Amino acid sequence: MTNIIETKGLKKAFGPKDKGVVVIDQLNLAIPKGKCTMIMGSSGSGKSTLLYLLSGMDEPTEGTIEIDGIALDSSNERKMSLFRRNKVGFVFQDHNLISSLTLKENILVAGYLSKESRKMVKERAHALMEQLGIVSLKNRYPSEVSGGQKQRCAIVRAMINQPDIIMADEPTGNLNSSTSIQVLDSLIKAKHKNQSIIMVTHDPKSACYGDLIVFMRDGKIVDSLIFGEHVVKGERYEALLNLLKKYSW
Ligand SMILES: Nc1ncnc2c1ncn2[C@@H]1O[C@H](COP(=O)(O)OP(=O)(O)O)[C@@H](O)[C@H]1O
Ligand SMILES: [Mg+2]
Repeated sequence: MTNIIETKGLKKAFGPKDKGVVVIDQLNLAIPKGKCTMIMGSSGSGKSTLLYLLSGMDEPTEGTIEIDGIALDSSNERKMSLFRRNKVGFVFQDHNLISSLTLKENILVAGYLSKESRKMVKERAHALMEQLGIVSLKNRYPSEVSGGQKQRCAIVRAMINQPDIIMADEPTGNLNSSTSIQVLDSLIKAKHKNQSIIMVTHDPKSACYGDLIVFMRDGKIVDSLIFGEHVVKGERYEALLNLLKKYSW
């Protein structure tokens, strides 16, 4: 299995150099290509910080991040900006949609940043909205749709430029559990074969959609589970609950 992301000795500290708080601590992580990786861990364990580092939105204090075998060079702002725009789609917990734009406009604005023709972008936006069941809401404003529908829109926006990697930080954290599962289902279905998903979640049921689940504590990865494609949800759930018990989750 090839990896889309590899980190070596990744470290992030906040605050003054010697007295800073270490939030990501010498982390070595390999994220498999074309799969869905779930990150779990209690609040404050460093999950969001890790995603910000992997997406290039924040810079590591030490260590390296390789994407498709190429080191992220945070000193090259132009390259980093292209990387963030073309290679990664990010879904935030609270959707971050622009309230003065309709759902469709929110998606198109992101799509028009790419080099593709507007026609292509519009067609893909339509297809993705259809896939995620929001096409009939395309002319509504974010305030006129439900939380789950806003999150579906945020997912389409993250996917519009067909990024190799889709990162999502607790995208269903504000949704009830049946809506969460629906949103997650659509995300996994809309993902094409070579796209990799990295998602932070608190919910063990959601985490079971992952091919790989990593468990973080105090800025380190302390445990992980890898599932073959044949392993059914029930089995995954059992295994995960056993793992979580170890950490008094
Ligand atoms: N910009 C920052 N400055 C200082 N401390 C931060 C900053 N961002 C995060 N932290 C701290 O890093 C730790 C991990 O935060 P975070 O990555 O948000 O955890 P999680 O997403 O797992 O809840 C927390 O203790 C948090 O207070
Ligand atoms: Mg977080």
